[in-house]
Amino acid sequence: MDGNGRWAQSQGSDRTIGHREGSRAVRTIVRAARRVGIEALTLFAFSEQNWARPPAEVVALMELLRDFLVSEREELIENGIRLRTVGRVEKLPSRVREVLDPLVADTAHLDGMTLTLALSYGGREEILDAARVLARRARDGELDVDAIDEAQLEGALPSLAVGRVDLLVRTGGEQRISNFLLWGAAYAELHFTRVLWPDFDEAELYAAIAAYQKRERRFGRVESAPLEPAVPAPAMADAAGE
Ligand code: IPE
Ligand code: MG
Repeated sequence: MDGNGRWAQSQGSDRTIGHREGSRAVRTIVRAARRVGIEALTLFAFSEQNWARPPAEVVALMELLRDFLVSEREELIENGIRLRTVGRVEKLPSRVREVLDPLVADTAHLDGMTLTLALSYGGREEILDAARVLARRARDGELDVDAIDEAQLEGALPSLAVGRVDLLVRTGGEQRISNFLLWGAAYAELHFTRVLWPDFDEAELYAAIAAYQKRERRFGRVESAPLEPAVPAPAMADAAGE
């Protein structure tokens, strides 16, 4: 979700105003995604690298996150939306954790759509953490190093619990992945738009989905494949038990 700052600048206002409008766009897009039947939506709300922004901006982003969680709580539950997070959420301020943690717990049983907020998230950091988990299990004799396969690794990557990425949308005109879902996006269809995140509305979401529907996904093969090769059984079990 990129372009909040530039949106604000174009209005002659403070970056914080751009983030507030960006938060409004999140509400719109979550509702629209639920309505069209998207099973899993992952939003890159705050990166591990975003901590390096000016402290006042970080505080403003955290307050907006808290406001979002408070104001959307009822609607998420009513619409059967399960909220989860990926990233180093332990770094978030307690003001956020105290509304985030109960909402994650209270929606854990819902199955209308899974909304994942990537918070203090980095794709490389996630892979690093998974490497540590597997290494520790190998050291403790629970894992045969030669038996480590994609499914084992995916089982240790929290973002993969909702499956691999089908469509990755980046707003704001940049054409890069910027440390988002690195492993899961290996074969994702990429959709880049110049639209700034606060202006990304339902029509823009439908346009991204329509573009995706015209793509031919081959996964390295010659013929078009209707679906990505299934994740081997252990990872599926992990994901289902999540
Ligand atoms: C939102 O857009 C990204 C967040 C960290 C929430 P930016 O703040 O990166 O906006 P630009 O790139 O400066 O326009
Ligand atoms: Mg940006």
